[in-house]
Parts: sequence; structure tokens; C-alpha cells
Amino acid sequence: MPATCVIGLQWGDEAKGKLVDLLTADFDVIVRYQGGANAGHTVVVDGQTYKLHLIPSGILNPAVKNVIAAGVVLNPETLLAEIEGLEKRGVAVQSNLLLSSRAHVVFPWHVEEDRLQSSRSVQGEQIGTTLRGIGPCYRDKVGRLYAVRLGDLGRADFRDIVARITAAKNDYFAAIRGSETSVPLDPDAIHAQYQQYAHRLQPLMVDSTAFLLDNAEAGKRILLEGAQGALLDIDHGTFPFVTSSNSSGVGVSSGSGLPGRWVERVLGVMKCYSTRVGGGPFPTEQDNETGAHIRKLGNEFGTTTGRPRRCGWFDAVAVRYSARLSGVDSLAVMMIDVLSELPEIKVCTAYEIDGERVTQFPAHADDLRRAKPVYESIAGWQKDVRNVRRLADLPSPARAYLDRLSELLQRPVGIVSVGPGREQTIIAHSDWDCLVERGLARRAN
Ligand code: IMP
Repeated sequence: MPATCVIGLQWGDEAKGKLVDLLTADFDVIVRYQGGANAGHTVVVDGQTYKLHLIPSGILNPAVKNVIAAGVVLNPETLLAEIEGLEKRGVAVQSNLLLSSRAHVVFPWHVEEDRLQSSRSVQGEQIGTTLRGIGPCYRDKVGRLYAVRLGDLGRADFRDIVARITAAKNDYFAAIRGSETSVPLDPDAIHAQYQQYAHRLQPLMVDSTAFLLDNAEAGKRILLEGAQGALLDIDHGTFPFVTSSNSSGVGVSSGSGLPGRWVERVLGVMKCYSTRVGGGPFPTEQDNETGAHIRKLGNEFGTTTGRPRRCGWFDAVAVRYSARLSGVDSLAVMMIDVLSELPEIKVCTAYEIDGERVTQFPAHADDLRRAKPVYESIAGWQKDVRNVRRLADLPSPARAYLDRLSELLQRPVGIVSVGPGREQTIIAHSDWDCLVERGLARRAN
């Protein structure tokens, strides 16, 4: 049975966690394959809110295996805190979580490097990272000399590895800290701490690549859960204002180890407006009352950092690009309830760049920064839709809005979300009927 992917189509925070949790009833294995604890997936089950950073959202379903695959950068401290938090709430984690021994490990020096770089600008703006050490860890992975994988924590020479890396990092910090006093990293303390982590995580470690290939070949149903959003993709996003992994659909294979031929279906998740955290161009941003209204009603504050998110109108140029890039065949439109009070809703259908009308998403942030959105106006519905459960019961302007989004993105809308709860979900396309209904039934039992 081939795999299904869930990919965010904007700059992250598209409410993918809710969807993955809902869909898990129909899968045997759920996989996180890129990013790290920079992600924040919120899942609301039976009125209880769970905030997950590293652990796949499927952990709330005791019947599925959850895999953190090779492409993830893993901070053991964060992961253990997340495991403990879930276990305290009665979630069975140990028996349902597998960690790739190939995943790269985030160390305190990565977090410190992230912090030190955070005040620096690129192209006149700060990237505004989540300060979780994600970029520095991926940089060391690519550089290889200072990289440590989860499986390395148990090596006989792990103490020597830590000593070698801390010596190099201490030199680096001394050179770049300037007037800031620098407390050198203590290799013994770090080694002791990471040995403890290794002891606790060892029982969960597997060769996830082999595990996933075996499961795919055995016909198991696999759901791959993307983190962040396609526009933050390191190679195809709004570089340099991106994350450090392939967060669009193109990252699925490299991060999980499953060849693309196993991926049968890609669900693209998007909010019916846009948000962005951190720096970088955002043509449809509404730094005004409309943006503040969306932020308030959508509770648009970062799950990981608590930062207020920048809010704006839906950008069909950007999302058409990210949907194509990610091979999306069906759309999940989230947070439609957030726009309910607005008398008028705008959608960006093209950009004007240096006087020219453009419908192709620019490759360079400088061009995107100069893009002026060309808007189409759509009447608001001004009705509470949070209790609507069937597409036909949505107010007609809301249906017209969904139809227009589908037309602009050239893809059918499969799922519409009218609130954070699992039951606040409309199945708009028969392809998703059984999946979502089984998910809802599971929760009701
Ligand atoms: P980093 O991934 O922490 O290096 O941050 C790089 C950029 O990606 C920053 O603009 C972050 O705000 C953004 N980012 C990283 N993870 C997420 C996420 O899960 N949601 C939204 N934005 C994110």
C-alpha cells in the first residue's frame, strides 16, 4: 500500500497536526522526516490540547507506530521532555515511537550558534529563526566534521568525539563573540549529559530507513508528516528566509529514505489566509487592523516560540507554486472560521513587479520583496461556521471562496476545517470520506 504525505503549502503553521491526527486511523506508520523542534504541531483531542515539536502527531493514536526518520535533527533534551509530558497525560509513547539512529543530534553549541547569529542580518533583514539550533545542526551535518548522529552516542569513542568538537567550537565562539564574555563549553559535562540521554533513548533507536522500506514493501500504510511549509524549503523556498531542510514535498524521499515511487497521494494543507513568522518577504502581509483581527481570531502566535505571526491575505501565486512543487493532488483548507467576521476577503491572484504582471512565483527574495499583490475581492459570509459539518451547509459566499481557491490552485478541495477540534471538519471530496470518518469514529469510541 503506497504512502500518503501531508505537506504545508505556506510558511508553516498550517494546522497540519490536526489533520495528521485525524488521518491516523487509516495508517499503520506515521513519519516525521525533516526539521526538528522548530516545528510546533497543535492537536486538540477531546478538548485537550497537545503541543508536539518532534514526536509525530500520530502518537495520540495507540494503534500506530511513529517514526522520527533520518532527515530530522533531534534535540534529545527536548525529545525526552516531550515524551515525559505525554506519558504524564497517559499517552503510551515508549511502545509506539521509533527513532532513526541516522538522525543528527542537536547539541548546546548549535543552540548557542543560532543565538549568536540571530542578531545578524542577511539582505538587510534578520531571518528570525526559532533559536532551536536547527540551522547550525544541519550545517554540521553537511560539513560532516562536527556532526554526530543518534547512533554515534553509543560509540566507544563518543567521549573523544565530544572533546574534539567542543575544542573546535570553543575556538569558534571565542573568535565571533567579540566583547561578549565567553564561558567555554565543558566537554565532560556535555559528554555525561548526552550519555544519559543515550541510555534513555537507546531502546527506541532503529534503522528507520530499513524499517520504512520493509513496511512499504510489506504493504503497510504509511503517512509522512511534513514540518514547516513548502515556502520555507531550503532549495525552493524564499531563500535565505527559509528553514534548513527540504520542507516542501521534495524532501519526503531524502528525509524518510522512501523512494518517491511509494508516494501515491499528497494532501496540501493551507490556511485560507497567510501567516509568516520571522523575516522575509510577504507580499500579502496586512500590517494593519485586518492583520491584527486575523491574528486575534486565529490565535496566530508561534507554538514553539510564542512570537506573534505576521498575517495577511491568501496568496494564490505562492500557493499555486508550492502545490505544484509538492505534487499536491488535493487541498485541505484550514481555519475558515477565522475569516467569518470580515465583510470583504481578498485573494492575491498575481503580482506586479516593476510594472509587469507576474503569475510565476519569483526565485529570488529581492523580486518577491518588490512584488505588489494584485487582489480579487470576495464577499465575506459574516456568519459563524464553527458548527457546520457539511459543505452544503456553509454560507454560499464561503463556498464561493473555496471554489475560487480551488480554481486558482487547479486542485480540488478535499477537506475544510472550521475549528481546532477534530469534529470541526468538513469532508469536501469523496476521496477523503473514509479516512476522515474513520478518524472521527475512532475519537467518538
Ligand atoms: P529555523 O528553522 O529555526 O532555522 O528558522 C528559519 C525560519 O523558518 C524562520 O523564519 C522561522 O520562523 C521559520 N520556521 C521554522 N520552523 C517553523 C515552523 O514550524 N512554523 C513556522 N515557521 C517556522
